[in-house]
Amino acid sequence: MRSLYCGEVNESLLDQEVTLAGWVNRRRDHGGVIFVDLRDREGLVQVVFDPDREATFATAERVRNEYVLQVKGRVRRRPAGTENPDLATGQVEVLGLELTILNASETPPFQLDDDSVSEEHRLRYRYLDLRRPLMQQRLRLRSQVNRFLRNCLDDQGFLEIETPILTKATPEGARDYLVPSRTHPGSFFALPQSPQLFKQLLMMSGMDRYYQIVRCFRDEDLRADRQPEFTQLDIETSFLGEDELMGIMEDMMRGLFKDVLDVELPKPFPRMDYDEAMHRYGSDKPDLRNPLELVDVGDLMRGVEFKVFSGPACDPHGRVAALRLPRGCELTRKEIDDYTAFVAIYGAKGLAYIKVNDLAAGREGLQSPILKFLPDEVVSAILERTGAETGDLVFFGADKARVVNEALGALRIRLGQDRGLLQGDWAPLWVVDFPMFEWDEDAKRWVSLHHPFTSPREVDLGLLDSDPAACKSRAYDMVLNGTELGGGSMRIHRSNVQTRVFELLGISDEEAKEKFGFLLTALQFGCPPHGGIAFGMDRLVMLMTGASSIREVMAFPKTQTAACLLTQAPSEVGEAQLRELGIRLRKPAAESKAG
Ligand code: AMO
Ligand code: AMP
Repeated sequence: MRSLYCGEVNESLLDQEVTLAGWVNRRRDHGGVIFVDLRDREGLVQVVFDPDREATFATAERVRNEYVLQVKGRVRRRPAGTENPDLATGQVEVLGLELTILNASETPPFQLDDDSVSEEHRLRYRYLDLRRPLMQQRLRLRSQVNRFLRNCLDDQGFLEIETPILTKATPEGARDYLVPSRTHPGSFFALPQSPQLFKQLLMMSGMDRYYQIVRCFRDEDLRADRQPEFTQLDIETSFLGEDELMGIMEDMMRGLFKDVLDVELPKPFPRMDYDEAMHRYGSDKPDLRNPLELVDVGDLMRGVEFKVFSGPACDPHGRVAALRLPRGCELTRKEIDDYTAFVAIYGAKGLAYIKVNDLAAGREGLQSPILKFLPDEVVSAILERTGAETGDLVFFGADKARVVNEALGALRIRLGQDRGLLQGDWAPLWVVDFPMFEWDEDAKRWVSLHHPFTSPREVDLGLLDSDPAACKSRAYDMVLNGTELGGGSMRIHRSNVQTRVFELLGISDEEAKEKFGFLLTALQFGCPPHGGIAFGMDRLVMLMTGASSIREVMAFPKTQTAACLLTQAPSEVGEAQLRELGIRLRKPAAESKAG
């Protein structure tokens, strides 16, 4: 129906006849001449209809926004002074000779070029939203990324293998989406949170190198970078150590950024261990474009009379840290109050600070609500350790280490944005040497930091019994600009170690057999050393396109409450369907009480 795309019409086609098909972006009536901007995937071109071609002109008069047209016409140069340098086709236009209206359109619920349309509206009419050039570019880039990664992994000998979607619960730590079985009444499939166990089984099957661009499902609280269904580039390899695997993954990412964005990422990516990341940035996914760092000052605070500081300083689980903001004296009282309210979201009970108005003037040059609690030598030690200079402000956090890390870590990010401190465009790194376990204070038990199949470091095997908290894992995360792009690990490949780790996690023998029995059995039939990684494709494309949320790079995303506004899913189902599945719905709590 077309000889080329609208966006491809250019000066090389002057005086030639073309056939175009696309949507009416805009129609303008200009003193007897009708201009139609015709749009397709590749761009826009201006089509002109003159009244001397009566029938065609009459049809053009009926055309409205978003009508679907087929146009035969002749390419000509735009009259001098009417060129549009913002448009790839802006030097030319098409004189319309024949016009067919392939389909009419109701008046669209919003103007496609209106940036102020609510996200709700955009999601409800997603197919219209996706007609916008920006959305087309994002999905196109996403397709390029997929193609590059497939080719790259294919070149490296990886096999693309699909794994089941109707399966058993997988342990990535979120809630499962369940699917009732009709043929086994009362039993449920779980949708995979990741293909973790299947990819390990594929290594036990001798596939050696596996990858899959695969949908994962997690019923968890949603945020800008979390969706209930999202896509992973999932990878597993046999007989490679972590350095070799990380090397291949780094090369792949460097190749990807070069190919798609013409960006050179550093070689090699820096590596930072988990402890250092937490100490310096309060986060295991630090944005290294941000120069601000946390500095421990607990040792200076143990003896001070200010209990807010001396308490956490003396608590083995506490932390007292400082965050120096260059030129922070510029902050107003109101701004400091806002930041105090901001860190409160993360549980901080306050946000002490010292303004260094004049470093040379000693105490007189400082301004702070906590100065009166701190002796001279502590104040000067803090200033020296944080490297504070005249004009700077030093913030303080004191609490359980977790609270201080989250609060000052978030403040660091916020200050980086508010004060325009970010340096450079891309800052990838590996975070390594994660602890195996974290103590869950509420549940009073150890939980895996990564997942229960992650191998401890060989040298730490003994710590499984003596000091689980000190046991480090063979896990690694790839972080880009403060976002966790991907995470993986070398896996446990010996059944006795796997059993011991389950024990530590409080997973009983029966539970282990019931949930992961097939894996434990498989480990006994010659399991190769293996390990892998999974990247969040939505996050990767979000960063590469500069989008603000992963919803912006998914064709049909869900809302914050995990609903689809376009299809109205999830929706109720009929009684007959439920009966077939052996399911009876409970009344919502309030109603059943009343009844
Ligand atoms: P993990 O749970 O760290 O590891 O997930 C890997 C990557 O997937 C992305 N991701 C998400 N993206 C969008 N929405 C979500 N809800 C979401 N959850 C995770 C992140 C994350 O880094 N099986 C292991 C991998 C392995 O060990 O090989 C796993 O799934 O970018
Ligand atoms: P107060 O004595 O409660 O008025 O606190 C004095 C200063 O210490 C104020 O600036 C508070 O914001 C700050 N502050 C209080 N609790 C903490 C805390 N846990 N961490 C950091 N600063 C705090």
